[in-house]
Amino acid sequence: MGTTRRTFLKGSLSAVAGLGAASLVPEARAAAFGRPSASDKIRIGLIGCRNMGWADLQDFLKHPEVECAALCDVDVSILNGRAGDYAKLRDNTPFLCGDFRRVLDRKDVDAVIIGTPDHWHCLQATAACQAGKDVYVEKPLANSIAECDVMLKTARKYGRVVQVGQQQRSGRHWRDMVAFVRSGRLGAVRSVKFWANFNYAAGRPAVPDGPVPAGVDFEMWLGPAPQRTFNPNRFHGFWRMFWDYGGGLQTDWGVHLIDMGLWAMDVSGGPKSVSACGGIFASRGNAVETADTQTVLYEYDDFLMTWEHNAGIQSGPYGRNYGVAFVGTNGSLVADRDNWEVLAEWGDGKARMEAVEKQKTDNLDHENHVADFIDCMKTRGRPSADIEVGRNAALFAHLGNIAYRTGRKLRWDDAAGRIADDPEANALMRPVYRKPWSFPET
Ligand SMILES: NC(=O)c1ccc[n+]([C@@H]2O[C@H](COP(=O)([O-])OP(=O)(O)OC[C@H]3O[C@@H](n4cnc5c(N)ncnc54)[C@H](O)[C@@H]3O)[C@@H](O)[C@H]2O)c1
Repeated sequence: MGTTRRTFLKGSLSAVAGLGAASLVPEARAAAFGRPSASDKIRIGLIGCRNMGWADLQDFLKHPEVECAALCDVDVSILNGRAGDYAKLRDNTPFLCGDFRRVLDRKDVDAVIIGTPDHWHCLQATAACQAGKDVYVEKPLANSIAECDVMLKTARKYGRVVQVGQQQRSGRHWRDMVAFVRSGRLGAVRSVKFWANFNYAAGRPAVPDGPVPAGVDFEMWLGPAPQRTFNPNRFHGFWRMFWDYGGGLQTDWGVHLIDMGLWAMDVSGGPKSVSACGGIFASRGNAVETADTQTVLYEYDDFLMTWEHNAGIQSGPYGRNYGVAFVGTNGSLVADRDNWEVLAEWGDGKARMEAVEKQKTDNLDHENHVADFIDCMKTRGRPSADIEVGRNAALFAHLGNIAYRTGRKLRWDDAAGRIADDPEANALMRPVYRKPWSFPET
C-alpha cells in the first residue's frame, strides 16, 4: 500500500498563521498517575554523564525545582568529575553509582536522563518505565527498530512521560519552518533532501586493542552488545561508528534531520521502499564500520526523500554541511540549526514566489525541550518529541542503514511493522542480546 501524507498541503497564507505551536505539538493528555504536585521538587537521576547527558542535566538545573538525586556512570573518572561539577552548582550531594539499576531502585528519583551510548537506551529506558520513572532519553531512541518498538509499548503500558532528545522539535525556527512548508507556498514539494557531512564520523586511525582503563566497568559499558576487547576507538564518543553501539551519521544526525521532514510533510507511517548504497571510500585504515559515504532513497507515492552523508568533510549543498531542503515547484526551503530560508524558483522571466531571507534560530531549542519535558511530568501530557516521534524518526534512519548493509531495495510493511519478504533484512531490525541481559518484554 502506498504511503501518503496525513493532510493535503493547503495553498493559503492563512494556513501559516493557523499553525501555531499548539496545533503542531501532540495534544496534551492528563493521566491520573504519577502527577507531582506543583510545589514538588523534581528529582533527576542522570545515567551516562560524560557528554550529552551532562549537557541535558545542565538545562534541567536551570529550573529551581529540579535537583539531581543520582549520578551514574560506568567510568569512575567521569562520575567523580561530574560529581565535582555538580557540587559547584548545587548544595545537595547526589547518590553516585555505576549500575543504573541502583538509580531506578531509589524512591527519591522521579525521572532519569539517559545519556549512554545508543545500544543501552532500550534496556535502561524500559527498566525506568517499569520502575515508574519518567524518561528523557537521548536520540536515536535506540540502536534498532525492534528496540524502539518495545520501548514505545512499554512507555505506554506504564503511562510514563518520555521525551526523546530530538530537541529541534522544541525549536521556534523549526516550528516556523514546518508551518511554512505546510502552508503550500512552495507549491508541490516533490523532494525532501537531508544531508550531514562531518569530520568526526570518519573515525580515527586504527590502533590495537589494549587494556581496559582503570576505573572503567567495561562489561557494563558493553552491556547487551557482543563481548569484545577494549579499544579507545570504540569507546567514549567514538562508539558511534560501530554497528553494535551506533549507526554512524545516518542515525546520529539522521534522526534529527529526517524528523524535520516527517514533521513538515505530515507523513504517516513508513516509506513504501528504501534503497541505499555507499561504502568506506575515504576512511580506509581508520577505525570505523559504518559507511563514510552513503545515499539513501525513501519512496512515497507523490514525493521522494533522500538522505546523504559524507564523513571526513564539512561542506555541503546550499553552503551548509548539514541540513534539510524541501524542493517545491515555486521554491526550495533550506534549513539547518542556525536558520531557514526560501530560494525562489523562476520561469518565463519571473520569480514564482518571493524569496524569504534567513529566519534565524533563537538558540533555545534544547532549553525549551527540557522545559517541555518538565512541564509534561506535571501535566502528564505528551512532550514535543514523545517516544512515538522518536520511534518514527529512528525507523527511517535504521531502515537506511539496513538497506545499505543488505544492498537491497527494501519494502516496508507498515501494518506488520516489518520489512516484507526479506529475512536477512528483518534480522537486522533486532539485536541479539548478550547474557545475562535479555531483550525486554512489555
Ligand atoms: N541531542 C543531541 O543533540 C545529542 C548530541 C550528542 C549526543 N547525543 C546522544 O547522547 C547519547 C550519548 O552520547 P555522548 O556523545 O554523550 O556519548 P559519550 O560516549 O561521550 O558518553 C556516554 C557516557 O555513558 C557512560 N556509559 C556507558 N554505558 C553506561 C552504562 N551502562 N551505565 C551508565 N553509564 C554508561 C559512558 O561511560 C560515558 O560517560 C547518544 O545516544 C548520542 O546519540 C545527543
